[in-house]
Amino acid sequence: MIKESAGSNSSILSVGIYRATNLVPNSAIVEKIDSTDEWIQQRTGIETRRFADKNVSVVDMGTAAAKQALDRAKLTAADVDVIILASITYPHQTPSGASGIAANIGANKAAAFDLSAACAGFTYGIGLAKDLIKGGTAKHVLVVGSEKISDFTNPTDRATAFIFADGAGAVVVGPSDEIGIGPTAWGSDSDQRDAITMSSWLDYKDTDAPASSIAWPDIVQEGQRVFRWAVFSVSKVGSKAIELAGIKPSDLKAFVPHQANLRIIESMAKDMKLPAEVQIADDIRTNGNTSAASIPLAMDTLLAEHPELHGKNALLVGFGAGLVYAGQVVELPPLPVNS
Ligand code: UT7
Repeated sequence: MIKESAGSNSSILSVGIYRATNLVPNSAIVEKIDSTDEWIQQRTGIETRRFADKNVSVVDMGTAAAKQALDRAKLTAADVDVIILASITYPHQTPSGASGIAANIGANKAAAFDLSAACAGFTYGIGLAKDLIKGGTAKHVLVVGSEKISDFTNPTDRATAFIFADGAGAVVVGPSDEIGIGPTAWGSDSDQRDAITMSSWLDYKDTDAPASSIAWPDIVQEGQRVFRWAVFSVSKVGSKAIELAGIKPSDLKAFVPHQANLRIIESMAKDMKLPAEVQIADDIRTNGNTSAASIPLAMDTLLAEHPELHGKNALLVGFGAGLVYAGQVVELPPLPVNS
């Protein structure tokens, strides 16, 4: 008879981050897109964003965030069973970026794979980590979101150049007595998958296009269409996650959504009827939209500003290209020992 491995409840044990080093104000972006600091702040809430150095990669940033998360959880690489890297800007199909992080941190035996769910990648990863632990397939899972979107953004594109940014965040998900991660509300509106896309050099493979006309694969989006979808649909995902967790909005202490646009975040909070006391992460103001990295980066900022939120209930919601979405209620990680 086939034996089943025993699983357990899980929680987020720690968060770690890497902030890209170059802080770029709106004033440095506006000329190429005929925009203004005022327009960008009013429409998105973004005042500054961060771009990584040329020689710093998605794997480098993910490695730094993963190491900090492990340190804060008082765990070592040997404790890691699985590494999931959520990214849309790791520029190789194979080997995976996750295997690069595994090698860098010395978790050479850990299962490692990449996950492509754009700005929902981190919350997709949290859902998977919870289920891997519940199923007994893993004890500790590193979920890493790392993006170098500046490599795939056209600085003259008025719909993307001022939004996207670079950085990485990671969490260690591990066993716990209590349920620290609620069920994941997730899915896609895949009939809208053309709303955010990235071109490919393969598009030119069987054409006679001269090399000089072959464009770099940048991210393009129909901003207003994505905005309308996010405002109309994504708060329902958050409400579903709250319902699945068996709690009420008033049981939440924090809301840490994907940092796409401050207006989207505020609209979601209103639609979900979050009480005014719920702290809302707004890391986008200073760090821009870092896709799969935005939720752990925003979580770290919120915990630094509000240490009383360690261990408290937060709603996470990710959404983006696909169009895909995922959300869950989690207990924010405990205050690291010695911090
Ligand atoms: O994380 C990945 C998922 N992506 C998102 O969640 C992005 C969602 N979308 C958005 O955040 C917003 O749609 C944007 C911030 C991208 C754009 O804001 P918007 O309020 O939807 O602007 P719009 O495209 O409707 O344009 C409004 C006006 C237009 O001018 P008129 O026709 O009203 O005179 C545009 O020409 O703003 C103009 N405009 C700009 N002006 C200055 C458009 N882009 C710019 C710009 N700078 N970059």
